[in-house]
Amino acid sequence: VSRLPSLSKPLGDDAASAYTLSADYYLDNEVYELEKQRIFYRSWQYVAHESLLKNPGDYATLRICDESIFVIRSADNRLRAFYNICRHRAHELLAGSGNLRNLIVCPYHAWSYDDQGKLARAPMSDHRPGFDHSEFCLRPVKLEIFCGCVFVNLDPDCASLASIAGDLEADIRSHLPYLDDLQQNPENEQPNAPIKAGWKVIVDNYVECYHCRPAHPDFASIIDMDTYQVDIFDQWSRQYGPDIRDSNSAYPLDPENGFHQSVFWYLWPNTTFNVMPGPESLGVFTVQPVSIDCCNFNGHSLTTDGQVYQPRSDYFNDVLGPEDVGLCESVQRGLRSKSYDQGVYMTNPAHSGESEYALHHFHRLVLASLGAD
Ligand code: FES
Ligand SMILES: [Fe+2]
Repeated sequence: VSRLPSLSKPLGDDAASAYTLSADYYLDNEVYELEKQRIFYRSWQYVAHESLLKNPGDYATLRICDESIFVIRSADNRLRAFYNICRHRAHELLAGSGNLRNLIVCPYHAWSYDDQGKLARAPMSDHRPGFDHSEFCLRPVKLEIFCGCVFVNLDPDCASLASIAGDLEADIRSHLPYLDDLQQNPENEQPNAPIKAGWKVIVDNYVECYHCRPAHPDFASIIDMDTYQVDIFDQWSRQYGPDIRDSNSAYPLDPENGFHQSVFWYLWPNTTFNVMPGPESLGVFTVQPVSIDCCNFNGHSLTTDGQVYQPRSDYFNDVLGPEDVGLCESVQRGLRSKSYDQGVYMTNPAHSGESEYALHHFHRLVLASLGAD
């Protein structure tokens, strides 16, 4: 593909000798256009936890780059997903999440759709000769439940998430015996300001902990970096901290209760599942591109009792999050320097959690998806 930036040094399949994606991959608007078409409009995207959509009429919306999607539980109790776009003149239909008692009414000219996407009413349509309501149904989108989470995929020919990442679901289950007890409390949403760094810079930072000791001293005090490990799989990777310290500088822990490990799963291309020590929870956060050099990294903690553990959440919002945002925004600025083109991956044969194997794995997936291989 001629529009992809060149790599003057090879990003081969051996992390120890490969060079990273070049700066242009993080700067070029044409790369972002390709990423939309070949990555984001073809991959599974997290919308909400099933518990948010238990009653008929419950809905949630999701933006995927330039697209807007909604998921609704229909009166027949099935979850369905549609493009959130009116077939009259393209106004968006629903916003946020909530419960609909009646039809989906477009705010612009009041075309109304039922909960299976059928056009029910279009004012003055009786004056348009031969107007066929069935020609103007909402466009459906593929939907799948994974670990209790609702995902959608804009590619009608996509492979199922179960076939792509069934081993990830098994892995999450094996670590989290409480997985099926989790629920989403809409009051625990954590909307953050857009980050001035591209989505790949955020994923790069998420999938490696080479930076944890120097840049996150409190994180390195709660999680024992000496036993931290990273493992890569087909379309996902995992950072696992089997040992934690009850006494640490991040936040207080009860030695008798809660989960006493940490696990961070990354699912291609932009979903993260996060477990930090403390009361049972699972954070689901996604990196949502806004442009080549801007994104959001939003999500929420699923919990077994609907309550967030405030000291942990404060540590995330006031310490760890700002530390990572600072790192990523500095990197995005640095990538614009003419002094920089490609970096390298630091690895060690023991696959310790401080090695950058999962970063190399992510870059290989980017290249393969963009059609560079
Ligand atoms: S755009 Fe929706 S009714 Fe006109
Ligand atoms: Fe970090």
